[in-house]
Amino acid sequence: MPSHAVQAQQEPIVIRFSHVVAADTPKGKAAVRFKQLAEEATHGRVRVQVYPNSELYRDREELEALQLGAVEMIAPSLSKFGPLGVREFEVFDLPFLFPDEAALHRITNGPIGAGMLQRLRLKGVIGLAFWDNGFKSFSANRPLLAPSDLTGLRLRIQPSRVLDAQMRALGAQPMTMRFGEVYAALEAGVVDGTENPPSNFYTQGMQDVQSHFTVSNHGYLGYAVIVNRKFWEDLPSEVREALEEAMRKATAYAASISQAENDRALNAIRASGKTQVHVLTETERQAWKKALSAVSVEMEDVIGRQLIADIRRTIGTR
Ligand code: LMR
Repeated sequence: MPSHAVQAQQEPIVIRFSHVVAADTPKGKAAVRFKQLAEEATHGRVRVQVYPNSELYRDREELEALQLGAVEMIAPSLSKFGPLGVREFEVFDLPFLFPDEAALHRITNGPIGAGMLQRLRLKGVIGLAFWDNGFKSFSANRPLLAPSDLTGLRLRIQPSRVLDAQMRALGAQPMTMRFGEVYAALEAGVVDGTENPPSNFYTQGMQDVQSHFTVSNHGYLGYAVIVNRKFWEDLPSEVREALEEAMRKATAYAASISQAENDRALNAIRASGKTQVHVLTETERQAWKKALSAVSVEMEDVIGRQLIADIRRTIGTR
């Protein structure tokens, strides 16, 4: 008899859900919504413990902890799957690949996305869903109007080959760093700038250490919610089905709040009076697109030429 059945009679099934961002973010709120929905749907047979802000595990460690079964659920950024050996997820990092969220959802809610999640099984994890955050902006301690304004800056990135190539294409020096260490590195001047959706920028207090924020929407930040494969497959089937339903609802919730959360954060950045916000004009945006146009060609061998072509065909950009 699986260990869970014995436990179900004695104690609830515990899901430790670890993540690296603040609770007051799209991912932070969606994790808490999943907790509520999962505990309701299983009538308390499942208890979800959410650990935000790298409290339990930091970037990188959380992936290892998941594979070891030291945590049951995480939702890393799609830019952080390289260490798991699935660099194809870095396709989501390609600059200006997705013209808008609707195009993105044709991938994350369609067969291409489903296939990418399915392939994670080979790595001992199960991909349950894609969660949204939003489009990224650049920040630094000088105005960023033209791509050349980033030349020579040390910019923090997530551990993605595509983001590394993106920053090099802009003449900047990419520096890979855990999310939880970025604020201190900016404050100490170890890095000069970075890229984030407004919600991550504001909830980490980066307005205190970055004087300029350019709304460029040059790339997308999203997540894949993943669980330990053995844990998930060992669950009693009725519990697993209830959790899958709770995940569907939490995913719809994440999609419904992400834009509003980022708009709210952008207003708060402006209202702080500490960071000047510049929204690229269409002419300026075309200059950034041109400066970054070679990145996808350069990354074809890393990500997979066919996947890029399939995505472009699906979203109708080629
Ligand atoms: C980052 O490292 O910038 C983001 O992936 C953090 C997050 O999970 O949103």
